[in-house]
Amino acid sequence: MGRDGKVVTMSQDSQLTTALAEAATTAGHAPSVHNTQPWRWRVLPDALELHTVADRQLTASDPEGRLLAISCGAALHHARLALAAEGWRAVVRRLPDPSDPSLLARLTDLSRTAADPDAMRMVQCMSVRHTDRRPVSDEPVPTDAIGEIARAVTAEGGRLQVLDRDQVLELASTAGHADTVEAEDPELRAELAYWTSRAGAGTGLPAEVLPEQPPQTTVPARDFGRPGSLPVGPGHDRAAVYALLHGDEDERDSWLRAGEALSAAWLTATRLGVSMVPLSAVVEVPGTRQTLRQMLAGIGYPYLVLRMGIADPAHAGPPHTPRLAGEQVVDTSAVRGERA
Ligand SMILES: Cc1cc2nc3c(=O)[nH]c(=O)nc-3n(C[C@H](O)[C@H](O)[C@H](O)COP(=O)(O)O)c2cc1C
Repeated sequence: MGRDGKVVTMSQDSQLTTALAEAATTAGHAPSVHNTQPWRWRVLPDALELHTVADRQLTASDPEGRLLAISCGAALHHARLALAAEGWRAVVRRLPDPSDPSLLARLTDLSRTAADPDAMRMVQCMSVRHTDRRPVSDEPVPTDAIGEIARAVTAEGGRLQVLDRDQVLELASTAGHADTVEAEDPELRAELAYWTSRAGAGTGLPAEVLPEQPPQTTVPARDFGRPGSLPVGPGHDRAAVYALLHGDEDERDSWLRAGEALSAAWLTATRLGVSMVPLSAVVEVPGTRQTLRQMLAGIGYPYLVLRMGIADPAHAGPPHTPRLAGEQVVDTSAVRGERA
């Protein structure tokens, strides 16, 4: 209501730019490798652009930008859901400008539609979802839940292969080998040390989310090179389910889509009470990535290993990992004055 008693209506333009800025801010909840948050959003009068931030790429462990694109894909999926939940339909153009490799996606041709209740539920899951690196409990993951998570991946154009017992044992030795290779490389060690010692920076991994000692698990979790302060308890990952997120191609467009599939899978898992942890060291080391490829019988390319399980209900899990403030990742300079 305005001061003179008239109803103040926002112009369609300002409604749109406000919705775009809010969707970009909401996308800040997305997971990213080492919590690098390697994205920057640009709000335009009629579109939202997703750019990479070169400074936050893991140049030693991810020189090709595979994990960077997967992380940005997760943020893209979050933004898509945030718009759908608010009743906006958008067309997504991935890698729309070959002359600008930093531009990963443009959300464009926006129009009004009914708010999507499924998207609303997924948006609620965004602020709940988190990475819990403790061993999972002995409670089995319901088969139906795995099926629903796999369907969420397929709906985003990816595939999820659940590993059988022999493949989990092979994964265990492969993950152990990847950790050894990474621990022996001084550049990789320095990179990990940087991203695990950034308290207060809004990026990286604080001690509270890292296990205080290596959890007793069949498949070794990533060795972060330093103990954290998260109590892990005596549990073992006996009931954990391991799966390979994979797809047909090994290029930027497919990595971006893999990130969208990861977000869909993880938010679905959160809704179903299933804890998920990605394991990416095995994908970072070329030799172990090749072993994963063989597990897929050469059909397709591995993007990430996912551990799924039911978190220990008796003890509090880790706190939420911090995020950069909205204004550090969302650039609204092109629409200043236009926003409601
Ligand atoms: C592409 C990608 C790779 C990741 N790899 C690992 C990993 O190897 N080990 C791990 O413990 N967490 C891994 N994570 C989880 C991130 O560290 C986590 O999402 C980030 O720190 C933000 O924390 P949150 O998920 O609790 O919000 C990965 C996440 C993404 C998106």
